[in-house]
Amino acid sequence: MTESYLERGPADDVSRETSSVEVSAVSRETSSGEPTDVSRETSAVDDHAYDTPIAREAAQAVHVLNVRQEQWPKPPAPRILTVANQKGGVGKTTSTVNIAAALALHGLRVLVIDLDPQGNASTALGIEHGVGTPSVYDVLLGGRPLREVTSQAEFTPTLSCVPATLDLAGADIELTSQVAREYRLQRAVNEYLDGFSPADDAVPPDYILIDCPPSLGLLTLNALVAAREVLIPIQCEYYALEGLAQLLNTVELVKAHLNPRLAVSTVLLTMYDSRTKLADQVAAEVRDHFGDLVLTPVIPRNVRVSEAPGFGQTVMTYDAGSRGAIGYLQAAHEIAVSGNRQER
Ligand SMILES: Nc1ncnc2c1ncn2[C@@H]1O[C@H](COP(=O)(O)OP(=O)(O)O)[C@@H](O)[C@H]1O
Ligand SMILES: [Mg+2]
Repeated sequence: MTESYLERGPADDVSRETSSVEVSAVSRETSSGEPTDVSRETSAVDDHAYDTPIAREAAQAVHVLNVRQEQWPKPPAPRILTVANQKGGVGKTTSTVNIAAALALHGLRVLVIDLDPQGNASTALGIEHGVGTPSVYDVLLGGRPLREVTSQAEFTPTLSCVPATLDLAGADIELTSQVAREYRLQRAVNEYLDGFSPADDAVPPDYILIDCPPSLGLLTLNALVAAREVLIPIQCEYYALEGLAQLLNTVELVKAHLNPRLAVSTVLLTMYDSRTKLADQVAAEVRDHFGDLVLTPVIPRNVRVSEAPGFGQTVMTYDAGSRGAIGYLQAAHEIAVSGNRQER
C-alpha cells in the first residue's frame, strides 16, 4: 500500500484505513502556483507500525496534530469562506471548526466568525459566549470593530474566533430596519483586514471561515456578502439535495446584486456512512451535479466528531487518531492546496 492519508479516497473505507500507509512523493500545484511536496508532511511510516489499532490511531494522530510541523501553503490573499446550507444538522458548524483547526495546525492563521445564535462554533473552539460577552452581535448592530470581539482559541495561537451569543437570535429582525443591512459584516471584515498594516507586526488571517445559521435570512446574507467563496456541506442522507436549489439561487442573487465576487467554490460530503447504499447514491448524485467543486475526501460519520464539542474541542485535538479527524485533515488539505477552485 503506497498511499498517504492525504491522498486516499473516502475516509471511512475501513478496510483501506486499517492497511499500512506509506507515502509516495506527490507534487501538487498550490493556490499560488508553487508546487508543494506533500510527501514530506506524510513521510514514510513503517508498515509494521500498524499491527494494532492503537498503533494505527497513534500514527494517524501524528498526522492530524502535525507533530512534524509541516506548513501548508498560504493563499496569496486572505480567503473568506462562508459555510452555508439552510438545512440544520448537515455539518456546517462541525465542518467550520474542524477545517479551521486543521488549517491552523498547519501553520495557517484562521479566524472563525460564528454567525449562529446557538454559538455552537464558539463552544467547539472553547470560546466564552454567554449573554453579555462581546460578540458578533456588537459588530453587526453596534458597529464595534471585529478586532475588539475576537478571542484566541486555547489550543493553537493561530486560530481565533468571533463568538456568537444568544443576543444574535433577534438580529435578523433588528437588522431589517438598519441602513446597509446586508453589508454590515462585509464592512467589518474589510476594516479588520485593512487594520493589518505592514508597519506593525500583526499579520492578517490566511482564512476567514463564517459559520451560518440554518436559514437564508439576513445573517446568512451578511455572510454571503462578506465572503468570496461559499462552502456547502451536504449530509449523505435522505433529502440531501432538497433545498439546495434555493441556496444556489440565493447565492446567484447575492452575486448579481450585492457581491459580484461570490462563488460556490467547495462542496463537502459529510456524515458519510459506507454501510449504506444511500450514502453512495447521494455522494454520486452530488458529484454529478457539482463536479470538481466536490472535495475528494468525504467526512465519515464518526461518534468522536459529535463528542468533541462537549469538551470544548474540535475532533482534531479531542481524538486526533479518529476517522473523523483524518477526514477533516484530508478535506482541509485539499482546500489549502487547491486554492479557490472557481478561479482556476
Ligand atoms: N461526521 C460526523 N459524525 C458524527 N456526527 C456528526 C458528524 N458531523 C456532525 N455531526 C453531529 O451532527 C449534528 C449536526 O452537526 P452540525 O455541525 O451542528 O450541523 P449544522 O451546523 O449544519 O446545524 C451535531 O450534533 C454534530 O455533532
Ligand atoms: Mg451549526
